[in-house]
Amino acid sequence: MHRFGAASVFLAGLAAGQSCGTLPATISFSGNAIKLPDPFTFLNGSKVTTEAEWRCRREEISAIIQRYELGPMPAAPEVKASVSGTRLSITVTANGKTLTMTPTIRLPSSGQGPFPALIALGGASIPVPASVALITYNNEEIAATDPRGKGKYFDLYGTSSTTGGLVAWAWGASRIVDALEQLGPETTKIDAKRVAITGCSRNGKGAMVAGAFDNRIRLTIPQEGGSGAMGCWRIVGEMKRNGTKTEDAAQIVNGDQWFATEFSKYVKALDKLPHDHHMLAAMIAPRPFLVIENSGIDYLGPISSYGCATAARMVYEALGATDTMGFSQVAHGSSHCQLPSNQNADVAAFFNRFLLGQNAVDTKIWKPDAKLSLDLKRYVDWTAPKLV
Ligand SMILES: *[C@@H]1O[C@H](CO)[C@@H](O)[C@H](O)[C@H]1NC(C)=O
Ligand SMILES: *[C@@H]1O[C@H](CO)[C@@H](O)[C@H](O)[C@H]1NC(C)=O
Repeated sequence: MHRFGAASVFLAGLAAGQSCGTLPATISFSGNAIKLPDPFTFLNGSKVTTEAEWRCRREEISAIIQRYELGPMPAAPEVKASVSGTRLSITVTANGKTLTMTPTIRLPSSGQGPFPALIALGGASIPVPASVALITYNNEEIAATDPRGKGKYFDLYGTSSTTGGLVAWAWGASRIVDALEQLGPETTKIDAKRVAITGCSRNGKGAMVAGAFDNRIRLTIPQEGGSGAMGCWRIVGEMKRNGTKTEDAAQIVNGDQWFATEFSKYVKALDKLPHDHHMLAAMIAPRPFLVIENSGIDYLGPISSYGCATAARMVYEALGATDTMGFSQVAHGSSHCQLPSNQNADVAAFFNRFLLGQNAVDTKIWKPDAKLSLDLKRYVDWTAPKLV
């Protein structure tokens, strides 16, 4: 039986008083350009066999991903929030500098609350249940896709910060959760313990990073994020090499400032990368996670998302959470970010069970595009332990 009930302790990250080793100053990882690194082996070669070790490995994975790909996530800053009508006003102070974010809130039209809420980077392009509040946030204002260093985040942390846009966007989402916690349901009518996050395309990448870095986010729904979200760099790299028109790591770092400057060193040396995106997903585990993909667009790397999600699911299984991760992939051509109606029920199931408390709803959703054939052994040469 799955242990999701008990595994909810994972929501808080490390156990009380637990400490883990820190990353060494230099790492020389030598892996493989196609095989995904084993999420259950520490950098020092030790195997993860217990839940306590997994919590440390998750910290290690977080540190690796920040160092190699996304850039450092700053410590939680000071936040002061207020709400006026449909606007939240969030003033953040760090390094003696201050910024204000003003996301909009749309409350359900009936009922008293407290309501669960969906935070949408840019805007929601999935159906939002009538009883869920929608908080929309302008993430491009926090960090511009281009040029690097433009946006409110960099006013606070310095225009020479090497952090990429995805971390800045995730940082912004976390400040919204800070504000909801600080104001409380009396003021916001929102229950800060039932918060989901979504975004599509580049904002799907941002939503996944936000879910990975903030344990308070209960449900993460990246939509059509492709490479940079549920796609693995190694798998999409192979697609590119064998002639598919898709977006691989070498291409994605040109023009779009979503990643740390450091990542450019590895886009053509993927064997040196101690992680891949199955491990970004592993940071979300065992919290509820629904991946929405569109296999009608080669650019999104359909087999890469499918293979990478399948590897990530092995982590969910190891944590005893087999039905908190879902994968829904439909080919609908060029209508990017327009959810086809045959994915509506998948989205609704995750909201109903994990935000609206309908515990009996079936969330065993694993629907890759049936036209794709996945040879998992090509990418995965490790097995998932039964954690004790
Ligand atoms: C490897 O690193 C982990 C995490 O820091 C630690 O718990 C473990 O004891 C280390 N193993 C060895 C053999 O040093
Ligand atoms: C190209 O690479 C992808 C990803 O590994 C794989 O699924 C596909 O079978 C490969 N195609 C060919 C023709 O080798």
